[in-house]
Amino acid sequence: MSKNQVSQDQLKQAAAQAALDYVLKHLEDDSYLGIGTGSTANCFIDLLAQHKGYIKGTVASSEASAQRLRDHGINVLELNNTGGVQIYVDGADEVNPALELIKGGGGALTREKIIAAAADDFVCIADQSKWVDHLGEFAVPVEVIPMARSYVAREIFKLGGEAVYRQGVVTDNGNVILDVQRLHPIAAPKALEEKLNNITGVVTNGLFALRPADLMLLSTPEGVKTLKPSH
Ligand code: A5P
Repeated sequence: MSKNQVSQDQLKQAAAQAALDYVLKHLEDDSYLGIGTGSTANCFIDLLAQHKGYIKGTVASSEASAQRLRDHGINVLELNNTGGVQIYVDGADEVNPALELIKGGGGALTREKIIAAAADDFVCIADQSKWVDHLGEFAVPVEVIPMARSYVAREIFKLGGEAVYRQGVVTDNGNVILDVQRLHPIAAPKALEEKLNNITGVVTNGLFALRPADLMLLSTPEGVKTLKPSH
């Protein structure tokens, strides 16, 4: 297979391997590891299983990831019982050069944001299809308390977005998700993240700009690039 024919699955696998190498090098013996959600994070979990003896414990951003970790015999803890995680490894739906992200395509945005906030070092892993100059082609997920759904959608309309109800989805926290379209290009991700958070009834939103990733392992056919935020 030539460089042009490298599949997206192979790219995800390479990003996950790079994250494993990073974790094995940097994670301290007495520290905990945060684990994200999605297909790229799943690749990472499966690779981590071979090294579980070196990992004191993990905190998962979803019930699905927690179950996958336990199936591999990896210790999973409540965040409250850890005092924080040293490194958090997770995927993304979009990444810009400041390492600001859109996340939540898998619906786990709130727990992902909590672990990112509690982490010393947030390592994002993704294939090159997630790399963008400006965020917003991917709809921004917003987790909402169910009774506030229509009100929040109307408030989002005032901000210029179109909120689409993710039918049939209930988050691990018992809430619903609105996917906000028509925001591209998001000129000021931090300001928009704050505005969305300030709508009553919003639990959190999938813009990760106030707390961006610290390191990006971006998988390309030429290899995995290690990127820091450009300011
Ligand atoms: C989960 O809620 C998301 O934030 C994921 O991190 C994101 O959707 C990336 O998933 P993939 O690795 O499957 O693309």
